[in-house]
Amino acid sequence: MSTNTIDIPKKVTTSTVARMKRDGEKIAMITAYDYTMATLVDKAGIDLILVGDSAANVMAGHATTLPITLDQMIYHAQCVSRGASRAMVIVDMPFGTCDGDELTALHSAVRILKESGAAAVKIEGGEPMIPSIKKIIGAGIPVMGHLGLTPQAVNQLGGYGLRAKAKEEADQLMKDALLLQEAGCFGVVLEKVPAQLAKEVSEALTIPTIGIGAGNGCDGQVLVLQDMLGMNEGFKPKFLRTYASLADTITSAVGNYISDVRSGNFPSETESY
Ligand code: KIV
Repeated sequence: MSTNTIDIPKKVTTSTVARMKRDGEKIAMITAYDYTMATLVDKAGIDLILVGDSAANVMAGHATTLPITLDQMIYHAQCVSRGASRAMVIVDMPFGTCDGDELTALHSAVRILKESGAAAVKIEGGEPMIPSIKKIIGAGIPVMGHLGLTPQAVNQLGGYGLRAKAKEEADQLMKDALLLQEAGCFGVVLEKVPAQLAKEVSEALTIPTIGIGAGNGCDGQVLVLQDMLGMNEGFKPKFLRTYASLADTITSAVGNYISDVRSGNFPSETESY
């Protein structure tokens, strides 16, 4: 009998993130929208990959996240799922899919999991989303909440500024976070809220909070991949840390290629058959 074992990386699940919260282990989440990037972030050991509706901005060049469709989100999620062996893949429910009746929300979430192979969905918004969230969780689909700056509501919020500075909004956010937990969400993204509030919410919840522009008191952090890789030169919010300058690297590599093609220096003999 062979004693050889194959070292298959253990897939991250909702139980893993629940355990990480209990043990005080920070959770690393990042966005991805395609297969190649998904394989790279998975290889680096990321815990959660978010197929964010920020794909509308980053991949498609839209000014807001509103135009991306359910079919387009499913396409991105399929590409990412094929590249993620260890990380758990979570997919944003796009604008409009959760604002109406609960059955439409459920059918959209079912399509995402059935057609993409992802493991969970993320839904922006608090109290008004609870009936849809309960319906989706009731069908066995894990849901991550998203409070604070919810970019799908940009037209109502009047921009992308810091949220919950005033006590009334901060109290509502705490109430919403507790409602999301009670409804069965396995985690909550807190976007662009004061660090002290995010810390208090994180301490009040037994499910993990994942912050973006929400300080260090959250149970995990998320960044948009292209932003943290320095590919989006014009975007420099206070909360963003860039870990590479890929815009420079890519434009200079492509510039070198262009001059080699123009000068006849590429391809060389060794690069020819
Ligand atoms: O769409 C997205 O990328 C997001 C993150 C910024 C949390 O929702």
